[in-house]
Amino acid sequence: MGSRAQWSFVLLCALLSVLIASLNGTATESFGHTHHLGNGTSPGRREGASGISCNMFRGSWVYDQSYPLYDSSTCPILDPEFDCQRYGRPDKSYLKYRWKPDACELPRFNGLDLLRRWKGKKIMFVGDSISINQWQSLVCMLHAAVPDAKTTYKKNDTLSTITFTDYGVSVMLYHSTYLVDIVEERIGRVLRLDSIQSGAAWLGVDVLVFNTWHWWTHKGKSQPWDYVRDGDQVLKDMDRLVAFNKGLTTWAKWVDANINPAATKVFFQGISPTHSKGPEWGDKNAKNCYGQTQPVNGSTYPGGPVPAQGVVTSVLGAMSKPVYLLDITLLSQLRRDAHPSAYSGDHPGMDCSHWCLAGLPDTWNQILYAKLL
Ligand SMILES: *[C@@H]1O[C@H](CO)[C@@H](O)[C@H](O)[C@H]1NC(C)=O
Ligand SMILES: *[C@@H]1O[C@H](CO)[C@@H](O)[C@H](O)[C@H]1NC(C)=O
Ligand SMILES: *[C@@H]1O[C@H](CO)[C@@H](O)[C@H](O)[C@H]1NC(C)=O
Repeated sequence: MGSRAQWSFVLLCALLSVLIASLNGTATESFGHTHHLGNGTSPGRREGASGISCNMFRGSWVYDQSYPLYDSSTCPILDPEFDCQRYGRPDKSYLKYRWKPDACELPRFNGLDLLRRWKGKKIMFVGDSISINQWQSLVCMLHAAVPDAKTTYKKNDTLSTITFTDYGVSVMLYHSTYLVDIVEERIGRVLRLDSIQSGAAWLGVDVLVFNTWHWWTHKGKSQPWDYVRDGDQVLKDMDRLVAFNKGLTTWAKWVDANINPAATKVFFQGISPTHSKGPEWGDKNAKNCYGQTQPVNGSTYPGGPVPAQGVVTSVLGAMSKPVYLLDITLLSQLRRDAHPSAYSGDHPGMDCSHWCLAGLPDTWNQILYAKLL
């Protein structure tokens, strides 16, 4: 079954379950109007099923007094880089926005429900620091739902694992900047567009959320390789979008060859945008994201799509195994106000790439949650 067919089937099941629930007289609530955390213990209330039936990535940001979803000071792991309030960000309204898809409501995130549904399972984010951002967001959100639950934390250079031991749910981060390998060879560090050694560590996981892009653009001192290998050719450099296409295709082949869709759900976290040029959002005076306190109004971004999005859609479109694209680019582009900017701990300079927590990645996880229902 192709990925579209697969997800249509999931959607159909979701719709059927809503229908059955309403026939039983236990209709799902309209989530847009409930601002408490749901409970999720009563079997008739499949909260969120109503949110699945629409394009969740088209919509706009609305002010919502009940946000944020958690108090960042209570989160058990939060890198200084994302902890904007602790590091002096003076404004707070960026915390107060809820994503409103045009055609439906996003189900309210319910951490307890997620832990119960995914009891005994492993959820792993694989990718660069944008994955760290989303991983820490999910840990904060789950912890806020069950603040007294026991957790364990294990960490080494590549793998960090938080386990909610009462539920047996592990939320993991596998650090990989390119997904494909960088190998030390005689000539120096080689980015190998055709090889994924680390894939072995991703097997046996129940939910995989992949991401890579930002490092593909890095040049000079912040480029962690000396050569790029493309098949038989070893090059000093190549067009970065072409390289990204080849690397992502290697990843796609790995997924097609190694993933059993009955056991593992695979997501690709779409391109996370940066806000380093005001003219992109129609503000000639803004040098970057610093001082932005409001989202872009409405549902369109003046700067238009990011070229790397085209690579993602074409590579994912050619896969044989179902991969769900968390297509977060547009909704994130609208959040020029959601970056750490100068309030990012020891991070040097202006950070207009990562995102404050609490903040935007919570919405990415809300959508992930909706897709996991
Ligand atoms: C959740 O719902 C169950 C059954 O409806 C109830 O027994 C329980 O007290 C509720 N828990 C909370 C925290 O509201
Ligand atoms: C990190 O920990 C994992 C799981 O315990 C292990 O498989 C892996 O080899 C470790 N990696 C490093 C670099 O130590
Ligand atoms: C945002 O757009 C909506 C609809 O176009 C409009 O009603 C509203 O006044 C705008 N808000 C701001 C702050 O510009």
